[in-house]
Amino acid sequence: MYYDKRPLMNEGAPAKPTNGTGEMLWGFWYPALRSSEVHGRKLARATLLEVPLVLGRDSAGKPFALRDICPHRAFPLSFGQFDGASVECAYHGWQFDAHTGQCRHIPSLTADSKLKCERIYAGAFPCAERDGYVWAFMSNSEGRAAAANEPAPPPAPELPTFSEHYKIAHLAADLPCSVDHGIIGLMDPAHGPFVHQAWWWRSRRSIRDKAKQFEPIPNGFRMSPHAPSANSAPYKLLKFITGEPATTTIDFVLPNQRFEQIRAGKYWLSSRTTVTPIRRDLCRLDFVAAWNILPWFPIVSFIIHVLGPRFIRQDTEVIEKQSLGLEHEDRMMLVDDADRQARWYFELKAAHLESQRTGQPMRHPVAGPVTLRWRS
Ligand code: FES
Ligand SMILES: [Fe+2]
Repeated sequence: MYYDKRPLMNEGAPAKPTNGTGEMLWGFWYPALRSSEVHGRKLARATLLEVPLVLGRDSAGKPFALRDICPHRAFPLSFGQFDGASVECAYHGWQFDAHTGQCRHIPSLTADSKLKCERIYAGAFPCAERDGYVWAFMSNSEGRAAAANEPAPPPAPELPTFSEHYKIAHLAADLPCSVDHGIIGLMDPAHGPFVHQAWWWRSRRSIRDKAKQFEPIPNGFRMSPHAPSANSAPYKLLKFITGEPATTTIDFVLPNQRFEQIRAGKYWLSSRTTVTPIRRDLCRLDFVAAWNILPWFPIVSFIIHVLGPRFIRQDTEVIEKQSLGLEHEDRMMLVDDADRQARWYFELKAAHLESQRTGQPMRHPVAGPVTLRWRS
């Protein structure tokens, strides 16, 4: 057992650069809104990493995300009009291309004006639609376009699916905490028996020894494929329905994604949970699951729509209560293997920031396969 004054004491790291605690990571895709919240000529608002955004769809249905701040005098563009191609600020009528943010028209200019309005830009973020979400690539806080020598953003994240037909469901919750507490709560194996007690799931009496193998993957780590926890009823049910032994694989990938895949013969369930920083003290948890297990019999749908919200509510309540303590004390202890994944998260984050700073490839904190042991 060890005690850390700060969540990460990264031996060998230079003292000056931050270890990333409390920092939000730039240069990644984040889900801004559900697809259904962005429709017609309506301008929708969202906040990601403390950046106010205005989102909409052009006349072809392609989504866009602009910084919700007019470069003229900071009027929120979301109060303005949108014609399917340009957003018009409601204060002085400047018009901006919805995708690039380039200024198209300044109504107050006279015909002989020397001002080149096309040199003025509203902040704009690469935008894409996947898995029922509109995602924005948060390159930097101003929404500056990438320089010619900067790499183009990677494709937006996609939930892995394994057959042509499947069902899909989405859940969401607000978490009143920093992104770090949201994420380490997500990967924390030790709270299950205390927070998620239920007769059909587990109780503190069902605590037993666990040993799980982990391996490094790009930008994250994987709990190697293994038989799901024997003490959880949904997995027993899955085995009962499919008659096949199930395996589950859990990945964490920077900045904020936890993937879980359960496979049993030809049946699969694939889910992703993201914890997205909205503000320094507020995150949103988004959960999406797709499955092909008995699509005509709503058992999985029941588990996700009825038990899922209950599960998420338990986590939300715990985070709300924790925030009362965190107001007075922001130190934390990361204890043995039960908190190893949380430690890896902070180390990954620090390594990522270091590689961004130096331009060197990221030094992965997880060296090779390793077995972690805890009781839960
Ligand atoms: S503040 Fe937007 S046009 Fe003036
Ligand atoms: Fe939980």
